[in-house]
Amino acid sequence: MPTPMTAYPGGPLTGEAQLPGDKSISHRALILGSMASGKTTIFNLLEADDVLYTAAAVRAFGAEVEREGGRFEVTGTPWRSPERTIYCGNAGTGVRLLMGAAAGQGVTARFDGDISLRKRPMGRILDPLRDMGVLSESDSGLLPVTIVAGSPRAIHFELPKPSAQIKTAVLLATLGADGETVIEEPVLCRDHTERMLGSFGVDLAIENVGEGRVLRLAGRQPLKATQIMVPADPSSAAFPIIAATILEGSSVTLPKVMMNPTRIGFLSALKEMGAEIATLNEQETGGELVADLTVRSAKLRAMTITADLAPALIDEYPVLAVAAAFAEGTSRFEGLSELRVKESDRLSATADLLSANGVICRTGEDWIEIDGGKVAGGGLVTTHHDHRIAMSALVLGLAAQDPVSIDDADMIATSFPNFTDLMKTLGARIEENA
Ligand code: S3P
Repeated sequence: MPTPMTAYPGGPLTGEAQLPGDKSISHRALILGSMASGKTTIFNLLEADDVLYTAAAVRAFGAEVEREGGRFEVTGTPWRSPERTIYCGNAGTGVRLLMGAAAGQGVTARFDGDISLRKRPMGRILDPLRDMGVLSESDSGLLPVTIVAGSPRAIHFELPKPSAQIKTAVLLATLGADGETVIEEPVLCRDHTERMLGSFGVDLAIENVGEGRVLRLAGRQPLKATQIMVPADPSSAAFPIIAATILEGSSVTLPKVMMNPTRIGFLSALKEMGAEIATLNEQETGGELVADLTVRSAKLRAMTITADLAPALIDEYPVLAVAAAFAEGTSRFEGLSELRVKESDRLSATADLLSANGVICRTGEDWIEIDGGKVAGGGLVTTHHDHRIAMSALVLGLAAQDPVSIDDADMIATSFPNFTDLMKTLGARIEENA
């Protein structure tokens, strides 16, 4: 049964809130920990559905995963072929990374997911794996997919698009390959895997070339268990940050948010729009930068976000579109083709979210234009099983003239299970429909 929910206009938002751990890092910590020798301790793992499916998957591959108080202990092992299908729910990152890892571990495994994940392209992972000599079975590159046990060989690979999921799947497959894989990454995308491999004692050579990098990874290096502190997820931070920005009189502090430059393009975009976001106590933990962020409400100006900025804010477009709806002038976001194959067709879903609430917008194949100003609200938004559409619509409702409803809030649990509680603690009014 879906859970319809409504956000009511009000505010301001005030106070401090600790955000949950980063989703990208949580998946990677479980997967690398599951193949390392020894016991890896993960602090602040994101306990959201997407990540819990990855935890169940690595257990099925043979690793032990235990929750001890506030931390997770993962005892790694060479993987074995599981008897049952590895079900990844809604998690594109989970399934794509696990397929790469399974290829490297030389196991046979069948992968599947929910109705939304079954529509998302997997050929982008299966193609490079095939080049590495790993066979798979699938119908038109969609789930369910079976990875067939084989012995991968290293490849020279140019990333066809700035996708950290593709890059990571090839790196994980290389961990079990003969030879050295070279990955050319013309445009830099999130680099958590590269950073984390270092913590597990793996040597990876990184050369900066133009706007991108060349990575060199020798296969068959041993991984040694380590400790990982998962920083707060900047993609989750984007929701309270934008809500506080558009709700007059707000002042919100979010401690220890990850500040990896490949993830915080939305902060630069928001600041250019006039947002007031102060960064304090910057420090490094476990190879990643973190900082405390304090956000005060501000008047926003429209902005153009060009295609080259997309990799550093790819998951934040729906909520940035909400910010643009409250900004003065017309904003334009370009280079959005990847949004068509996220948890939903996010470009259409974002345009529909805005239109349903009286915001004028125009879209093309890979762009959107949004006329900002006052937002009427009063709409019912269809979320299409997409957590970020659900949360963006609720943020819109907090600052619109009339309440905004969503058809289903359940998917929010895939990435940010305490979203409504956290927003309520800060002063938002969000309620399940009676
Ligand atoms: C992710 C990479 C991005 C992002 C996703 C998480 C990751 O996807 O949208 O939410 O953890 O590697 P792409 O690799 O498809 O760009």
